Amino acid sequence: MNTFRLTRLALVTTLAVSGLAACSAQNGPATLTIDPSQIAHPVSRHLYGLMTEEINHSYEGGLYAEMVSNRTLRWSWSGPEGWMLVQRGNSVAAMDSDKTTGPSAALPYSVRLTVDAATPANPAGLANHGWWGMAVRPHTTYHGSLYAKVSNDIGPLTAELISDATGEVLAKAEVPLHAGDWSRYEYSLTTAADVKYSGANHLELTVAKPGTLWLQLVSLMPPTYHDRPNGTRIDLMERLAAMHPAFLRMPGGNYLEGDTIAERFDWKKTIGPIVDRPGHQAPWSYWSTDGFGLLEFLDWCEDLKMEPLLAVYAGYSLHGEHVNPGKDLEPYVQDAIDEIEYVTGDTSTKWGAQRARDGHPAPFTLHYIEIGNEDEFDRSHSYPGRFAQFALALRKAYPQLKLIATDPVTQADPGAQPDVIDDHYYKSPAQMFDLVKHYDDAPRTGPKVFVGEWATRSASPTPDMGDALGDAAWMTSLERNSDLIIMASYAPLLVNVNPGGMQWPTDLIGYDASRTYGSPSYYAQVLFSNHLGDEWPKSSIENAGPRFFYSATVDSQTKTLHLKLVNASDKPQPLTLNINGVEAAEAAVSSLHGASFEATNTIENPEFIHPVQSRLRVHGPQMEHTVPPMTIQVIDIPLR
Ligand code: AHR
Repeated sequence: MNTFRLTRLALVTTLAVSGLAACSAQNGPATLTIDPSQIAHPVSRHLYGLMTEEINHSYEGGLYAEMVSNRTLRWSWSGPEGWMLVQRGNSVAAMDSDKTTGPSAALPYSVRLTVDAATPANPAGLANHGWWGMAVRPHTTYHGSLYAKVSNDIGPLTAELISDATGEVLAKAEVPLHAGDWSRYEYSLTTAADVKYSGANHLELTVAKPGTLWLQLVSLMPPTYHDRPNGTRIDLMERLAAMHPAFLRMPGGNYLEGDTIAERFDWKKTIGPIVDRPGHQAPWSYWSTDGFGLLEFLDWCEDLKMEPLLAVYAGYSLHGEHVNPGKDLEPYVQDAIDEIEYVTGDTSTKWGAQRARDGHPAPFTLHYIEIGNEDEFDRSHSYPGRFAQFALALRKAYPQLKLIATDPVTQADPGAQPDVIDDHYYKSPAQMFDLVKHYDDAPRTGPKVFVGEWATRSASPTPDMGDALGDAAWMTSLERNSDLIIMASYAPLLVNVNPGGMQWPTDLIGYDASRTYGSPSYYAQVLFSNHLGDEWPKSSIENAGPRFFYSATVDSQTKTLHLKLVNASDKPQPLTLNINGVEAAEAAVSSLHGASFEATNTIENPEFIHPVQSRLRVHGPQMEHTVPPMTIQVIDIPLR
């Protein structure tokens, strides 16, 4: 623990216990009255979830553990991005694109390596620099594979993990090659115990004899979360697990729609062996190999005990292409029916059996289907018709599912009404403070609300303390209105912070090849989602400053009042707390504080702002308490 952290722990404890009597309080004093015995409405147990998509290198160069960038060796104007020719000593080699040969119908192209001169002392080949580096740990085994076609006896291929800084070989393996047509080869690289953990490393694949070699689908995987063979990065999954998300909205976002219909998330092309996945151009400017496909999304849900909230492509893409309702839309509706069968069908169904062949015989639990994404942008105004066609067909096939519309459609046919509407909000801190009352007076008679994307945005690449205060203020309103708002998910979730990694500023969690960090907003979400009751008791507040917000939820099982206090002002907020029925007890306090709106965490200083724990003595139903400036506090008060 650093000095800063210790000092702040002491400060917060003092403030929490003694109530800042000596401080010049320019807010309040306010009175917050809560009656935990009178419940106004239940709170959705599924309120907090995740939303992600392929943006900011969320999967490729992010959550998907693949270490090799551009592993399908796609050739751009400057060559295969991420790959370099290796010519040691006086070896001579060239690489070029060969569009006529590849290991599968999905990958019918490759890179040809022509080696004119090479020896064991002076080998030649290719290097891959990973996703802005490769994380290499001591005493760890990395599992690699590649496809190769070999023209002659070129000898074994040597695979090496090499330190960028020192050129030292950190792990090495020889892969025997045989002359002939395309074959799959495997290799393992194991590091010694004294290797220093670092992200500045690369992979080299070299041969020591002249000849010609074609390469495709070069992969290297580190140990993954729950040891899944085509799995996820452990460090990022642990960060996500700490949020205890209830659901995952997948697979987008714009990533679902694609820039064009051809570039949509075409789920059938994202399943099965990775050599049979062609990949596709994602709308956020880079290629997706689809190594992280539909089943990998579902595995991710299983690993974090989240329920998938499946968004199905609904016939509209970002550059304006759309499919007219009627006959033209039928194949897309059928695709959605098949997709739901892939997720939920047992092995006697066509697509359930396919899922079993892909390695997951057990069906997944699914309650919500979202039809499209942000269809208000469809200038053809075809969404009401498209939604109705999907809704009627899906309800017929799967009557138990709840349907989410991305725009508030009103349907003539009662069978085509949405159960839930997905609302999105991206706001500055000041706008977010104003938005917190938005749902207080909203009608409770229509569809429920899913806030499928929201974020307070001012900082980049990740939110700062001002954004976290906006987010916390907003989350108090999600909880207060959770009789209407049944689910909510921040977006975007992930960002690779390397130059060129980000397409959308203000993302919850940052990382590079070897490090991750949570923004202040991440910590605000961890606090809110880990301290959520299932009931909203009657409460009222008087005389609070304009940027003071609270939430009070009761956990009926543990008999705990989760009190959330958000002081987004730069002045302390003194409070008189009247909590009916509370007896003398010790309460646990978690505080997140920043000295300014601009204070933040970075990849270099990942814990500058973090939750600090303290205890608070509760003397009975009435007590004085002061919330420090620019502070989010969560207080767990035991109830009788
Ligand atoms: O979260 C980033 C983008 O914002 C999503 O892809 C899209 O749905 C929204 O416009």
